[in-house]
Amino acid sequence: MAEKITVPIVRERKGGERLAMVTAYDTPGALIADAAGVDIILVGDSLANNVLGFDNTLQVDIDVMVHHTAAVSRAKPNALVVGDMPWMSYHVSREATVLNAGRLIREGGAEAVKLEGGRKRVPVIEAIIDAEIPVMGHLGLTPQSVHTMGGYKVQGKLGSAAKELIADAVALVDAGVFSIVLEGIPDVLAGIVTKEVPVSTIGIGAGVHTDGQVLVFHDLLGLNTGHVAKFVRRYADLYGIAVEAMQQYVDDVRKGAFPSDDESYHMSSTAAGELLGG
Ligand code: KIV
Repeated sequence: MAEKITVPIVRERKGGERLAMVTAYDTPGALIADAAGVDIILVGDSLANNVLGFDNTLQVDIDVMVHHTAAVSRAKPNALVVGDMPWMSYHVSREATVLNAGRLIREGGAEAVKLEGGRKRVPVIEAIIDAEIPVMGHLGLTPQSVHTMGGYKVQGKLGSAAKELIADAVALVDAGVFSIVLEGIPDVLAGIVTKEVPVSTIGIGAGVHTDGQVLVFHDLLGLNTGHVAKFVRRYADLYGIAVEAMQQYVDDVRKGAFPSDDESYHMSSTAAGELLGG
């Protein structure tokens, strides 16, 4: 049986074998990720866009995130389960933040939480870690800041912004994060941050020079349609496969080819005779 991935193991993998992380939002998704040997399952707030049909991640609250995190945890994966803290669950007060992080652990079964932002998030990160909850940071293109950023734009392209991001990464490490997601930043900058910090960096749209990579489940498997970001590699076209299978089912139903005799329950010929005769 594969080794259970823990926070200390993720820390030890810094600079070693690269970490493979993927999002999952329910039990079957977690079982697929775990069977594939994924190291970390993130129950991301991208649940909002990928599963619940919203336009952005601002639409999910802590109740929704706890519900889906619990569904992933019930798969009992070897992968480390990280629950994403949704917008407004860590912005109001330290007390509310710790209680919300605690819900992802106690009710959701997560083993760590992730939240977005740099230096200004240090006080809440310290408070969560003080409650013995490991925290993963998230810098760069942080989708919960979509309105502040004016859209989903690559961050840290200018020297000054890049320096700010490096300072944010160092501050997160000083606050005690065990890992940092780097999203939507130039590959060179991600490489510099990765060299600079002693914790594992996990990139998405951040090039190859990180300690690991993360992709959204539906992007990776081709389960969605519409715009595909430049950084996504589709490893399958499950949407196409699913539609084709469903079309065959529709055809079979319409022409009476489903269910077959083998797919039907039968009664004894005596009972059938009585029924039909009577
Ligand atoms: O919610 C999410 O899917 C994420 C990843 C993109 C890192 O935060």
